Amino acid sequence: MTSDVATAPGDLPLVGHALRLLRPWSLLHSLRAHGDLVRLKVGTLPIYVVCAPHLVQEMLVHDDVYDRGGAVFDQVRTVMGDGLITCAHARHRRNRRLVQPVFARSRMPGYSRLMVAHSAPLISSWQDGQVLDARTALHAIIRRQTTATLFSSRISPEQFEQLQEDVSTIATGWLRQLITPARLRRFTVGAEWKRASSRVHQAIEDSVTLAGKPSCPVAHAEQDVPELLLAARDADGSGLGPEQIHDELISMYLAGVESSSTVLSWTVDLLAHHPEIQRRAAEEADRVLGDRDPTGEDVDRMPYITHVLHESLRVHPPTWLLTRVTTRDTTLGGHHLPAGTNVAYSAYQLGRDPAVFPDPTRFDPDRWAAESFPRGAFVPWGGGPRLCIGMQFSLAEMVIVLSQVLRTWRWTAVGEPARARISMLHMPKAVRVRLERRVGS
Ligand code: HEM
Repeated sequence: MTSDVATAPGDLPLVGHALRLLRPWSLLHSLRAHGDLVRLKVGTLPIYVVCAPHLVQEMLVHDDVYDRGGAVFDQVRTVMGDGLITCAHARHRRNRRLVQPVFARSRMPGYSRLMVAHSAPLISSWQDGQVLDARTALHAIIRRQTTATLFSSRISPEQFEQLQEDVSTIATGWLRQLITPARLRRFTVGAEWKRASSRVHQAIEDSVTLAGKPSCPVAHAEQDVPELLLAARDADGSGLGPEQIHDELISMYLAGVESSSTVLSWTVDLLAHHPEIQRRAAEEADRVLGDRDPTGEDVDRMPYITHVLHESLRVHPPTWLLTRVTTRDTTLGGHHLPAGTNVAYSAYQLGRDPAVFPDPTRFDPDRWAAESFPRGAFVPWGGGPRLCIGMQFSLAEMVIVLSQVLRTWRWTAVGEPARARISMLHMPKAVRVRLERRVGS
């Protein structure tokens, strides 16, 4: 154990901080006061949380020393396979190069068109005066958009609809799946979850098989994502095998749906409780869009809405604690860390550090116009070579959806600000808002 690092208060014999981690927000908030690096214990296992931005940056940049690994990633791998999210450093660089074309800037206009086509009908189907369950509604929009952009017209309309239901089932049940040891899973994981999971895997497998056939019945002007992944070649001419493509697709699919819909849900809640900020964001959407739908090019034209999303990500980042394991003996901030040490960073803790973000609980999108922050302080998308590969994609998707909603609806809070629920992600329990159709929309 690294003896010169403070242990966070409140650890109990045998369980350590495990009970406090069931409601982690106040614990994470308090860590910075104990140092740049603070020890948490999960049971008897020590995890060193890196709290100082410059050290977080050092850790993220040296991804060969601070590698993916540990119990959480082992569990995630049982659902997502060994795609970019879970794979170790040894495979990462090559696979990232091969997946990168999926997120090339040149592909964004095509993705944006699909995103708008799938969100506009749902947003305009909401009713004036309705109390909207925003989490459910936004999850449905992002699910459809992600299915359409990742699989394009490769899957049948029936498969498309089935995927919507199945991804929803997986999302609801996957924390239980992840926290249950493999040998006990057959008692806790329902048959419906298993059926949904195998249908999703099958749909992805089918889309990859179909993409490889020259007689593929789907004609495109542009290669779709399974085709792109099949065609990708490294400098030595080698590519990704069907199994690897399957793992990359399911990782992108689940990561994409869950994180973006969570951020949008928090944002709708924050805007319900900050009507003046909602009004300014709606004005920007009106000014840029008039009465047309957004396109990919509009994303850069809506800086205020982008600042709203950044601020929402600062106070409510979906990934609240991410772990690494040291691959060799090293030092961080002068502390010795032996090989095999569990290290973590928390975008939640970092985003609420008052030394970096004054008055950190205040929701203030203008702080993104006025200031720049040290590297390692704002990391909701991670950083270094393992920065979220879907960052630009998700930002475009969220700006597109939020601007469409703002253009059509004004909304007010029903009840108190949403509270976070315990999950793999930092997500709101429920977001209920009352809708009012805007004049002229
Ligand atoms: C607001 C939305 C999103 C957030 C907050 C988010 C967050 C993150 C974070 C924090 C990481 C790094 C994890 C680590 O350090 O261990 C990551 C990686 C990743 N994300 Fe995202 N993500 C979002 C959207 C997406 C989307 C839309 C996709 C795909 C369509 C995606 C695919 C991935 C992949 C494949 C990786 C692994 C990258 C690598 O290691 O090379 N994410 N994401």
